[in-house]
Amino acid sequence: MAAADLLNEIDRNFYLSAEEFFPAHQRTALTYDDVTLATLHSEVLPRDTQLDTRLAEGLELRIPLVSADMDTVTESRMAISMALNGGLGLIHYNMPERDQLREVARVKNHVHGLIQEPIKVTPDQFIGDVLELIEEKRFAFATFPVVDASGRLLGLLPGHVVKPRYAKRRVAEALTPRSQVKTIHVSELQPDPIARADRFFTDHPGIHKLLVVGDEDRLHGLFTLSDIERITLERNALVKPARDPQFRLLCGAAISTPRTSDGALDRDRILTHVGGLVDRGVDVIAISTAHGHSKGVGEAVRLIRDAFPRMPIIAGNVTSGAGVEFLADCGANIVKVGQGPGSICTTRVVAGVGIPQLTALYVASRAARKKGVTLLADGGITKSGDIVKALTLAEGVICGGLFAGCAEAPGQIIEINGKLYKQYRGMGSHAAMKAGSAARYGHTTDTTRKVAAEGVEALKEVSGSIDTVLNQLVGGIQSGLGYLGAPNLAQHRARARFIRISPAGLREAAPHDIIEVKATSNPNNG
Ligand code: XMP
Repeated sequence: MAAADLLNEIDRNFYLSAEEFFPAHQRTALTYDDVTLATLHSEVLPRDTQLDTRLAEGLELRIPLVSADMDTVTESRMAISMALNGGLGLIHYNMPERDQLREVARVKNHVHGLIQEPIKVTPDQFIGDVLELIEEKRFAFATFPVVDASGRLLGLLPGHVVKPRYAKRRVAEALTPRSQVKTIHVSELQPDPIARADRFFTDHPGIHKLLVVGDEDRLHGLFTLSDIERITLERNALVKPARDPQFRLLCGAAISTPRTSDGALDRDRILTHVGGLVDRGVDVIAISTAHGHSKGVGEAVRLIRDAFPRMPIIAGNVTSGAGVEFLADCGANIVKVGQGPGSICTTRVVAGVGIPQLTALYVASRAARKKGVTLLADGGITKSGDIVKALTLAEGVICGGLFAGCAEAPGQIIEINGKLYKQYRGMGSHAAMKAGSAARYGHTTDTTRKVAAEGVEALKEVSGSIDTVLNQLVGGIQSGLGYLGAPNLAQHRARARFIRISPAGLREAAPHDIIEVKATSNPNNG
């Protein structure tokens, strides 16, 4: 049934499609809280909705969520967790290039479940030393691989000999020798390391640790039966990791667009940087600037498109149809929309420009459709309902602030008056620009020059793990699709019907006129 048939004549006068609604509000720029979506007849349960999204050829996500390329949001740890949850992390560039290459390599080489730096012991240690180690580090396990000084596997110290009665014996006397330890070579792990480890444990009853060796019998890592069982269970869950064709996690990286002393684009440096990222297996390059509809960004996109014809490119940010067309013509596949909506942004305050996000998305989406590119709604997302609204016009959303308080975001936890916080700062704040992102805002890193910051430095309350936050967000998005009777995001876009709300309507939407005794279990639902 088409969405139009799901509304009766009366409804149709109020609840309008995007094509009708946004032109009818031409003279006012709207954002998420200015509108609401109408419910439609549904035969879809939220848990059955699919959130897969295709950002570009070869870049498909299981959930339409991307973590921002900001130095307080996305490094390898966040990118790994995002991809494991089916999304994508964009590694920021406020670090030396070689560090960023290493961060990307960490994501691409991450084998879920494989403990890459297992705790090892050496043959000359006493069992008493091992007991002390367990006590000191509070390990919940007592079986350890035994290696020589060059990391070569000599055997396995089984937990049943790690007892005080053997404290004076050396590991060498008590270990199970290499010849009796079952291992697999790292090359046997592909294409599906978890399935391979799972098969091993089924074939070898009683073995709870699988040692993986590399060349010359060097210990490469280990799998434990309990991890594999947990991961196999998770695999049957709705959300699946986002992977490349070689079964590696997806990872994106942002690049800066440096200039030579004469002001020209530093083409060699950009190409060397992108070449290094491509060598590490990066899946998408992001050129993030405050003003994407500009000559310099266009040149950089063209440069990369010509040198790496098949590499997906994210470029931005823009808020106009002309901006989308310009970047698409330069070779971008994915365009970031958002100028000033971010929680730490001050662009609109400082520069007086930028468009409230929902109108910007509508305008951009019509140009994107014409050009065959996709859109990421970047910034201003404060709750899952905003994402549901953004996805009526874009293929995915980028979040910074919602993820900055997670354990996986870079940075230390700070305690203030008994509450825990993490730092979150705009890439256009003075501190971030000094650390490398000045070019994003059209400035040099020469801090002796007085420049107007377009972002603030802030704190976010610690919000637990990204798994929990994503779980809540995904639940909210699925609810949204359920209310619209949309089994997937394409249907969601087609069926969405909008209506403007008043400030009173907005107040009515949140808990009101009550004394809240327990905050909602969804920290992201307003
Ligand atoms: P949220 O709302 O998720 O926004 O915290 C994250 C997005 O904000 C953009 N960004 C900035 N915009 N000044 C700006 O005007 C800044 O300093 C700044 N830093 C980040 C960026 O698009 C990010 O994804």
